[in-house]
Amino acid sequence: MRTQVAIVGGGPAGLLLSHLLHRRGIASVVLEGRDRAYVERRQRAGMLEQGTTDVLRESGAGERLDREGLVHHGLELRFGGAGHRIPLTDLTGRTVTVYAQTEIVKDLVALRLADGGDVRFEAEVLEIDASAPSVTYRQDGRTHTLECDYVAGCDGFHGVSRPTVPGLRTFSREYPFAWLGILADVPPSTHELIYANHERGFALHSLRSPKVSRLYLQVPPDEDLGAWPDTRIWDELAARLATGDGWELRQGPVTDRSITPMRSFVAEPMRHDRLFLAGDAAHIVPPTGAKGLNLAVADVTVLARALTERYASGSETLLDGYSATCLRRAWRAEHFSYWMTTLLHVDPAADPFALRLQRSHLDYVASSEAAATTLAENYVGLPFD
Ligand code: PHB
Repeated sequence: MRTQVAIVGGGPAGLLLSHLLHRRGIASVVLEGRDRAYVERRQRAGMLEQGTTDVLRESGAGERLDREGLVHHGLELRFGGAGHRIPLTDLTGRTVTVYAQTEIVKDLVALRLADGGDVRFEAEVLEIDASAPSVTYRQDGRTHTLECDYVAGCDGFHGVSRPTVPGLRTFSREYPFAWLGILADVPPSTHELIYANHERGFALHSLRSPKVSRLYLQVPPDEDLGAWPDTRIWDELAARLATGDGWELRQGPVTDRSITPMRSFVAEPMRHDRLFLAGDAAHIVPPTGAKGLNLAVADVTVLARALTERYASGSETLLDGYSATCLRRAWRAEHFSYWMTTLLHVDPAADPFALRLQRSHLDYVASSEAAATTLAENYVGLPFD
């Protein structure tokens, strides 16, 4: 069995790469360890940079996104019981779009299958040979080997791709908190996202649609979900999001809940021989600012362009630049996500001096156009090139 590009992992990075390559006449096979329903249900942040929506739209994957995505022009920072709007579009000329990762995955799976794409679910990758190159995997109780020209490692933080690379340098941070996230069948109590800093901890009010709200609470990293019945979740959200002006949080049935650990992680370089790492396989950001999916889209866009050049002209110049190009963007997002996380969360070890500095920083971002612009241009995403 042979293909041009073997893609390990059928999340948004792997599926989009397969789609972009198909558009340029390059064949690929996607190998995904889980089944289709699992991949299409996995909850992740749902905020798309304008560059991300541009890539999806220009590649013909944006039809439902254009219909159902909610375009946002600002966000709210809430602290000290008051809201402060950051006018993203006024400050940058760009917008962001709320459209869940699960929906992007559903769209891409449907599109690949409609285009005759080869997406294999429940195919567990056992081994990657980055120089032959080839991928060995297990499906239906049998072991197969897929030979190829290149391997794309799009299999996330816990995948087999990254451990295949010898001599990687890794950089990481763990945070002394996690996010408890819920989906609720209730119309959002806000039109724009609210990022709240409160002495009890961070809270975020996001949304999925005019009828579905997505909310998060900062909790300890080892927190037990069982300790959070619905009433406790809503009471805590209401307390952390409260303002002095009578704003009210609408409550409704919780349909999904989970706890996500927060970490920052980067592996360098993102290439070994003919294996290219992309998305969470190479880097993780804490969810504040929702950069993870956007970074994955940026990686595979660069990779698709480089492979197109290689097959069209034989030149490996763009492939040789892949790791450096992607790492530059990844580190900018690492810094921004770290910055926004520390700006908004309550570090249990923070002393009164640190807390006063944090409040001053929030006040500065809320009142200085220069500081707000720094937040805004990173939040909407820096240009692709
Ligand atoms: C989300 O809607 O899941 C979301 C939005 C913005 C963030 C993080 C998560 O910064």
